[in-house]
Amino acid sequence: MKFFVDTADTAEIKSLAASGLLDGVTTNPSLIAKSGRKILEVVAEICGIVEGPVSAEVAATDYEGMMREAAVLKRIASNVTVKLPLTPDGIRACKTLTGEGVMTNVTLCFSPAQAILAAKAGATFISPFVGRLDDVGQDGLGLIADILEIYANYPSFTTEVLAASVRHPIHLIECAKLGAHVATLPPNVLRMLYNHPLTDAGLKGFLADWAKTGQTIA
Ligand code: E4P
Repeated sequence: MKFFVDTADTAEIKSLAASGLLDGVTTNPSLIAKSGRKILEVVAEICGIVEGPVSAEVAATDYEGMMREAAVLKRIASNVTVKLPLTPDGIRACKTLTGEGVMTNVTLCFSPAQAILAAKAGATFISPFVGRLDDVGQDGLGLIADILEIYANYPSFTTEVLAASVRHPIHLIECAKLGAHVATLPPNVLRMLYNHPLTDAGLKGFLADWAKTGQTIA
């Protein structure tokens, strides 16, 4: 399973990339706004930190505008993935960009039917939003399961399922059990994966006993 981090905060990305476990980054217009920085500058910096796919989202809503913005975004670095909304124009832009060999991430997916459209358009990634579906009383993880089941029926679908809007470690664990190819995690959720109180208590006990031995490992 690949781990992406869902942020445009480059200090966080640098810190998390040090683990060697970070496979990519996703951003969206809200995250760029939160960073307070210019999209081209911040995406270029992120692409210099992480070798894997870095999603940068178009802001245009019409096909021609999306294609113009995609041309600008893809020039930033070879690992830029153009993120497109799941609309008729977004799917059309996805199909064209796929034909040009550009990586794409189709975002704001809330139904299996939408995921089928993205796969038919050759999207590199489809981003179903687990947490936002849960927020409105629908089954976010059920959507991940449905998409994986459908895609498995069609070997010609190469689109990877990128679980997005992941809110806590249980979401991540359930997505992994289902076989999602990728999860994009907010930095705090990625850090939470390390935590268990028994690890902390166990380590404390081992260190206390070790100190009693007076030994050093050298
Ligand atoms: C996906 O790529 C989005 O950036 C993100 O996962 C949305 O998450 P949110 O619902 O927590 O805003």
